[in-house]
Amino acid sequence: MVRKAVIPTAGFGTRFLPATKSMPKEMFPIINKPIIQFVVEEALDAGIENFVFITGRHKRPIEHHFDINRDLEEVLKNSNKLELLENVKKISHLINPIYIRQKEPKGLGDAVLVSEPVVGDEPFIVSLPDVIVEGGTEVLKKMIEIFNMFGKGVVALYEVPEEEVSSYGIAKVKEVEEDVLLIEDLVEKPSLEEAPSNLAIVGRYLFTPKIFKKLRETKPGKGGEVQLTDAMRKLLEEEALYAYKVKSKVYDTGTPLGYIKTLLEFALKEEDIRGELEAYLRETLLK
Ligand code: G1P
Repeated sequence: MVRKAVIPTAGFGTRFLPATKSMPKEMFPIINKPIIQFVVEEALDAGIENFVFITGRHKRPIEHHFDINRDLEEVLKNSNKLELLENVKKISHLINPIYIRQKEPKGLGDAVLVSEPVVGDEPFIVSLPDVIVEGGTEVLKKMIEIFNMFGKGVVALYEVPEEEVSSYGIAKVKEVEEDVLLIEDLVEKPSLEEAPSNLAIVGRYLFTPKIFKKLRETKPGKGGEVQLTDAMRKLLEEEALYAYKVKSKVYDTGTPLGYIKTLLEFALKEEDIRGELEAYLRETLLK
């Protein structure tokens, strides 16, 4: 049974500094919901029961977000803002989170390794909280289905344009059946010449606990950090790794431009914002 999800949130959010000096980028809002909540709800709806957040010293707002805030509830109740009150309460009871500190930012691979004492000897999901996947719950469910079929790890991949391959982990694959692929090789952030394909790791993984052993053996790689992709590459020597190809839209909020694009697309989906926003954008673009 896949019951646990690890959500690494310890990074410094360097691309957004100084905004992320004290504010986690995972808490940036998409209209009125922080990015991390999309990622949590996606996993929750796919049947995940335990959420393990890997945090760092400036990530406390994430803990507050999923916690009860009686003062706020009181204020909302007294001012008769009942819809808001319900929404705020719902978030407080969404999950029973577990927070573990990664003491030093030694990379995504190291962050996942920090979760080992809590994950133990079970298969588990890793969801990166700067990516929002349209229909993400269905993607996770499909990954769990593939895991149940083969008993091996599964990684979600999606096609990116050539100019973006150097921003992602890229996979070389072989097709097993429609949408189900077998991973033959992986490279973290390759140049276009080195890239074996344009299939990028989305930021949704399902691992067997064997990944922990491989993470322990992985030396710092690209950027001097322990790369999860490198540990997965080592795992391939011992164990098959499957992939599921995502066809829906993937929003990468990890860069200022990606965040703005995501925000705009979600704003254009909001009935009470769309009309005015569209008019404003047209007017601004025509200037
Ligand atoms: C990380 C992973 C990369 C993956 C990406 C997905 O990179 O290292 O393999 O493709 O997430 O968003 P980051 O975005 O943290 O630089």
